[in-house]
Amino acid sequence: MTRPKIWAIGGGKGGVGKSLLTGNLGINLSQAGKKVILIDGDLGGANLHTCLGVANPDVSLSDFMTRQVEHLSEAAVETPVPNLKLISGAQDILSIANPKHAQKMRFLRAVQTLEADYVLLDLGAGSNFNTLDFFLLAKPQVIVVIPEPTSIENAYRFIKSAFYRRIRHASPTSQIRDLINETMDKNNRYGIRTPHELLTHLRNMEEDLDAFVDQQVNAFRPKLVLNQIRSRSDIRIGFAMENACAKYFGIHLDFVGYVDYSDIVWQSVVQRQPLLIHHTHSPITQKIKNVCENLLKNRKLEPQKVM
Ligand SMILES: Nc1ncnc2c1ncn2[C@@H]1O[C@H](COP(=O)(O)OP(=O)(O)O)[C@@H](O)[C@H]1O
Ligand SMILES: [Mg+2]
Repeated sequence: MTRPKIWAIGGGKGGVGKSLLTGNLGINLSQAGKKVILIDGDLGGANLHTCLGVANPDVSLSDFMTRQVEHLSEAAVETPVPNLKLISGAQDILSIANPKHAQKMRFLRAVQTLEADYVLLDLGAGSNFNTLDFFLLAKPQVIVVIPEPTSIENAYRFIKSAFYRRIRHASPTSQIRDLINETMDKNNRYGIRTPHELLTHLRNMEEDLDAFVDQQVNAFRPKLVLNQIRSRSDIRIGFAMENACAKYFGIHLDFVGYVDYSDIVWQSVVQRQPLLIHHTHSPITQKIKNVCENLLKNRKLEPQKVM
């Protein structure tokens, strides 16, 4: 059995369009004939089913987490879209909004054995460890941002936290793991404030860590989608974030697409009629398809082509 490709859609802040994007990317892939399973990983505030026009599903992730069902696939429901299934988020919020370590590990293993071409994980807001671990499981790792300082700030925090968590997991020694644990606190005794400074510190340590650092930087390449843009000049934010990530974090961020702010999106959510099914000729729909294509082809936007 081949493993599914796992995509994660996160970004630190709520209300930016993660669920909207997850739902419509899933529809796009399934329309191309792929078998797709969407998972609502927003454990405290699940609403992906609403984006897809599915009424309250009778099984959900809660049933898997609490072992009412043994296999994750049993928690999936059909959607109105052929080839597209949904594992809805928690109904029973109290028991799984903060899953225990063992529950989380069981879930992470199970995701990788789902029978599908693609599994898309819609993440909740915030940068808590569970959300970061779901994010780190995936490739591509998509970050959704809107042109507002709060969203941009949260996205940087999310990227930084995800990167720290990644290298901490991959640390070759407990000494390095301890160092990373310490540097997660910005008042650490080494004065390390950014991932870039951490990487430089690691390179200067006595052990030969250059290969480790290079490998970590090359393997972490989140994708950025800018949603709810209101003018063409907003598009610059995507490229500016790419540059800032490279300069201050030493991390490659790929700006893969943007989606305009539009009443059609709002309407599609209110009427529970997904864009890619009910608004096939809208420019917004085309923008989402462009994002999907760039993710599939591992391409990013070129400033000279879009500005
Ligand atoms: N491009 C857009 N234009 C207009 N409204 C949007 C757009 N993207 C998202 N929204 C609105 O924002 C709300 C939140 O989107 P949602 O996908 O649920 O965010 P998240 O999953 O990040 O919390 C939606 O109900 C929708 O009305
Ligand atoms: Mg959501």
